[in-house]
Amino acid sequence: MLYRIVTYGCQMNVHESEKLAGILELRGFLPAERDSDADVIVINTCCIRENAENRILGNLGFVKKLKEENRNLIVAVCGCMAQQDGAAERLKARCPFINIIFGTHNLAEFGAYLDKAMAGKKVSEVWPQEGEPAEGLPVKRGEGVNAWVNIMYGCDNFCTYCVVPYVRGRERSRKSELVLDDIKRLLDEGFKEITLLGQNVNSYSGTDADGNYVNFASLLEQAANVSAQKYRVRFTTSHPKDFSDEVIRVISDSPNVPEFIHLPAQSGSDRILKAMNRKYTAADYLGRIDAIKKLMPDAGISGDIMVGFPGETEEDFLDTLRLVESVRYINLFTFIYSKRRGTVAASMDNQIDRITALGRFQRLVNLQTSIGLELAAAAVGKTLEVLCDAYTAKTRLSRGKTASGKIIWFKSDTELTGQFVNVNVTHVKNSNLYGELI
Ligand code: SAH
Ligand code: SF4
Ligand code: F3S
Repeated sequence: MLYRIVTYGCQMNVHESEKLAGILELRGFLPAERDSDADVIVINTCCIRENAENRILGNLGFVKKLKEENRNLIVAVCGCMAQQDGAAERLKARCPFINIIFGTHNLAEFGAYLDKAMAGKKVSEVWPQEGEPAEGLPVKRGEGVNAWVNIMYGCDNFCTYCVVPYVRGRERSRKSELVLDDIKRLLDEGFKEITLLGQNVNSYSGTDADGNYVNFASLLEQAANVSAQKYRVRFTTSHPKDFSDEVIRVISDSPNVPEFIHLPAQSGSDRILKAMNRKYTAADYLGRIDAIKKLMPDAGISGDIMVGFPGETEEDFLDTLRLVESVRYINLFTFIYSKRRGTVAASMDNQIDRITALGRFQRLVNLQTSIGLELAAAAVGKTLEVLCDAYTAKTRLSRGKTASGKIIWFKSDTELTGQFVNVNVTHVKNSNLYGELI
């Protein structure tokens, strides 16, 4: 029996799909090469923006055709979109061919649902509330050098535009020794990069084996010291209001933690940040960037910015451009505000029209493109430490990632995947770096 998993959304979902694959493989399923070969198709959904939902609904149209060709195909839909209030009912009405619907809080039950569906029953079960983090699920990890490790689930921040607190529940932290045990085991298995996952990792609040409180800075420090071998510990996502000096110090002091920070700003306007319930001002945000640069002048910063939030004026938007200009992001994820059912911002009566939002989005992207190119050009001539993650024997091209997460290509006679090497940057093409192995 063969399976396919289609994943939408963030790294949290990517990792949860690895758990779904683990559950399937424990039951003897193997990955299918093509959708049309699959006996089970799982669609792990996202609802962060409307276009994510539209893509998923489009894909369900395609799956319906597969189902018409293969009556025995089992279709499962799970994840954040399914977790939304009333979504299971809407999905059932719109796509009656779906066999299994479940939400984010009952992912661990997938095996039992699959057994029921294989016995010919339909399953639609979305738990309204989160429980304790599920431990011990089988995980079929993706190929490559990076392994994801959950440190916490959920979000308590309720930014007014965001669905995540509604579909992921309240914050729950895993016990620190479970996190550290996972990391040790993954390094023993040969992974070279560990990414700690949470909606807001800086508010990690766990306990150790003796019941003592462990904060994020301490967990990160321990995670970077579980083994004498060389590896990288990354983490995502940070919230500026919780990004402490202590965390900055740990990054700066730990050779295994790359000097790279993803710190979403969302906006550069204090008025809009307040309406978003972000709990910091533009000056607070820039203060965090200064604190990072003081200890780590070469640190790479990436971020998220949204345009078109309700009530955003041209003046607010210019504040955002000024913030982007002063931070000089190595990488910026840019979004147009999307109205999400049930959030506070959805009922604000000053929504921005699409044309204005699109115009601002384009101006933001243009600014960031030129900053990104300048930063990439400034890397030429520098020697960077690179973790190799792929190799094409035919062209003898190795691919690797720099500390700040940039992809770099270079020639090598042998496969170096999983190794740390030094590469001299020679040129930039289409924002990719190219270099020579030293
Ligand atoms: N927990 C993380 C990630 C949240 S989702 C954080 O707090 O940063 C990733 C990004 O999607 C957010 O940073 C935000 O920029 C964007 N986003 C979230 N909700 C959105 C919405 N309704 N419309 C447009 N972008 C949104
Ligand atoms: Fe959403 Fe804000 Fe939580 Fe991030 S911190 S997941 S943007 S509510
Ligand atoms: Fe999407 Fe859920 Fe992640 S809404 S961004 S998959 S937490």
